Amino acid sequence: MVTPWLEKNPRAAKTLKFGREQQYVVNPNGIPELCEELKQCPRHAPTPLHALPALAGRLGVAEVRVKDESQRFGFGAFKALGGVLAVYSELSSAVGEAYHVNTGFNEVMRGDHKEITSRYVFSTASSGNHGRSVAAGAKLFGNRCIIFLPKFTSAEKETAIRARGAEVIRIDGDYDSAVAECKRRSQENGWTIISDTSWEGYDKAPRSVMRGYCVLAHEVVTEWRQAPTHVFVQAGVGGLAAAVIGYLWAVLPMRPTFVVVEPESADCWFRSNRAGKPTLASGNADTVMGGLACREISPITWPVVGEAADWFMTIEEDQVLPARRLLAHPLDGDPAIASGPSGCAGMAGLTRACTEEAAFKALKLDRHSRVLLINSEGNLGEEPA
Ligand SMILES: Cc1ncc(COP(=O)(O)O)c(C=O)c1O
Repeated sequence: MVTPWLEKNPRAAKTLKFGREQQYVVNPNGIPELCEELKQCPRHAPTPLHALPALAGRLGVAEVRVKDESQRFGFGAFKALGGVLAVYSELSSAVGEAYHVNTGFNEVMRGDHKEITSRYVFSTASSGNHGRSVAAGAKLFGNRCIIFLPKFTSAEKETAIRARGAEVIRIDGDYDSAVAECKRRSQENGWTIISDTSWEGYDKAPRSVMRGYCVLAHEVVTEWRQAPTHVFVQAGVGGLAAAVIGYLWAVLPMRPTFVVVEPESADCWFRSNRAGKPTLASGNADTVMGGLACREISPITWPVVGEAADWFMTIEEDQVLPARRLLAHPLDGDPAIASGPSGCAGMAGLTRACTEEAAFKALKLDRHSRVLLINSEGNLGEEPA
């Protein structure tokens, strides 16, 4: 233990190879083609990768770059990639199974195989953003959709989900209670769950969701030829972390140092790393970082995140606002970036690590380090003061 909030992963040897077990979770094959296919979507464009040289200088590293997912699809979060593409994947594989043909995005959108696709009713539990993405997918392809929300999800997020035509069921409990209720009701009604988290016997949709997230990692490597030496990635259940870690590990000549960042009260990855197996969070996941408010990891992601994330760290609630402010009101010359409480968590992790000497040294950060952060959501509520 370097500090009470930063711990090394004893399993993550640099010599570890990206093998079959990892490829089952995150398959890099076909991702460039998927990015090409996305060009058929009228509103899609790669998101910016901002350079923050003034901040890098202040923190004592060579470069800080922020992949700005607040710009994704005009949707405001990276989650747009997961739910929409997983709904598409479910429908196109149903058509494929029925007729032995490959269907493209446009054909499913046009309703070319309505006799198959319209049978599907989609559902998911969500803290907000994933539900909005599944709702957007269902709307795009003309399917009914039911989203289960925990009680802490904001009214704005509920409105945004309803605006995409989905029905919303509020659960008087946390995210994990919403998952349990979604499973029960979907089984009763024959709805197809598009979950971003996996469980025993259920991993097809979460793998499609992560495949969608790989698009952002692919965009980073295409734009940033030099590649990062360090990646700070925030985790809820671990889908985003698995996609980013898995994709970069698979395609880069050298695996960067990966640091997984979580809220103190939702430290399921931090605890799982220490235990060497999936383990519940120590707290009740009561955090302003709604997208990260998970008490359990997605078990399917273990071979990537559990084996190859180098470090796990937690951040405190009062570190969120300063990180959002730093992005919104940057140092001289750096671009301003609008982030939400979960979106800025990687930035909060980096600044925490850079202000404590023991952590800075342990992570081998120095004047040569090139750091990647992911602003996973934009500012969907109020501006940070
Ligand atoms: C904005 C934001 N960032 C990060 C995450 C974490 O993603 P995952 O649950 O896949 O770890 C989420 C999840 O909902 C999110 O909404």
